[in-house]
Amino acid sequence: MPGYEVIGKEEQQAVWELFEEGGVLFAHGFQARRKRFHVREFEAQLAQHFGADDALCLSSGTAAVKVALKAMNIGPGDEVITQCFNFIATLEAIVDCGALPVIAGSDRSLNMDPDQIEALITPRTKAIMPVHMLGVSADMDRILAIAAAHKLYVIEDACEAVGGLYNGRALGTLGDMGVYSFDFGKTITTGEGGLILTSNPHLAERARQYHDHGHRNLPNVPRGLDTAGLIGFNYRMGEMNAVVGKVQLGKLATIITQTKVRYLALDAGISSNMLLKRMIPAKAEPAYDTFIFEVENVVLREALIARLNELGFGTKNLPDAMNWHCSVYWDHMGFDTRTEAALDTQALLLRQIAIPIVLGKSVKDYADLAAACEELTRQC
Ligand SMILES: Cc1ncc(COP(=O)(O)O)c(C=O)c1O
Repeated sequence: MPGYEVIGKEEQQAVWELFEEGGVLFAHGFQARRKRFHVREFEAQLAQHFGADDALCLSSGTAAVKVALKAMNIGPGDEVITQCFNFIATLEAIVDCGALPVIAGSDRSLNMDPDQIEALITPRTKAIMPVHMLGVSADMDRILAIAAAHKLYVIEDACEAVGGLYNGRALGTLGDMGVYSFDFGKTITTGEGGLILTSNPHLAERARQYHDHGHRNLPNVPRGLDTAGLIGFNYRMGEMNAVVGKVQLGKLATIITQTKVRYLALDAGISSNMLLKRMIPAKAEPAYDTFIFEVENVVLREALIARLNELGFGTKNLPDAMNWHCSVYWDHMGFDTRTEAALDTQALLLRQIAIPIVLGKSVKDYADLAAACEELTRQC
């Protein structure tokens, strides 16, 4: 989340320099006018930073999900298993490809419940798309094992967990493809932007072609004489987003360190069994931008939400943006939104309170907030 909080002079300077260099805002061509290719530089930095063979920058996280599905040739007649607690974009991308989303519920990590996956697999299933929600990884060992047993692709939607790890590896690098968002609310931001990470050269090539009108980008061939490898579209990132992104990537480690100390201050101060903390999978190292607890008692839950708003923390998606994060509300998409698993997950989500961890609040603010939450448990 806090990328936008640390955006400032350095990003401004980078944009200024881009204009001084010749002002080419497009990732291809214009060699006579430009000094550098910033999207390509950003991609090389991202691949190295997160530990993938290939990084492809895109216009948004939503585009990244769709391009990943297209790279896998997923379309009409195919099914993709994803989850109820999600952001609408993931489902939109599946539906936009003509495929059918199949919905798994959440376990107490609030991510995809691996126990539910096998029963959802059919001969039409092509991929499993776990979504690492609000900074925390799904149980990737189990999801990868199920996918391998059934020869299914895994796309990790890590849009909400940039900077998070599983078993020491960056989220998005465990499955066949991983997707990040750099929109203005994410860990680091390019304003709008997205990323695909993969170490599968075949998928990397298809994704790169699809996001750029099918361009093969044949070496030493002028762009106008290049040929198309497949029917594509335009989901490219622009140079201006890339120069901002390069600066933001340099701030990522500090963002994670700073959010972690705030998160831990809040965590350390909460001990009441009326505030049931989100389960963090054993091998997960979160991105620390959201702290979540479950509150059964309705009076206490409402008092906590009111206090969070009064103190200027607010809540993050749970419960204030359920309509956009729970598949039960997406009847307009034409799939079965009211499965038992989805309804159970909706009920689970309605009991959660998600607290944003922002740099604009101090470590002491979070320690004081924990004390205020504890105090409310004694009053309710
Ligand atoms: C889980 C998830 N997937 C995909 C997206 C889409 O990203 P973008 O806003 O960059 O299109 C988001 C954005 O909020 C998200 O949270």
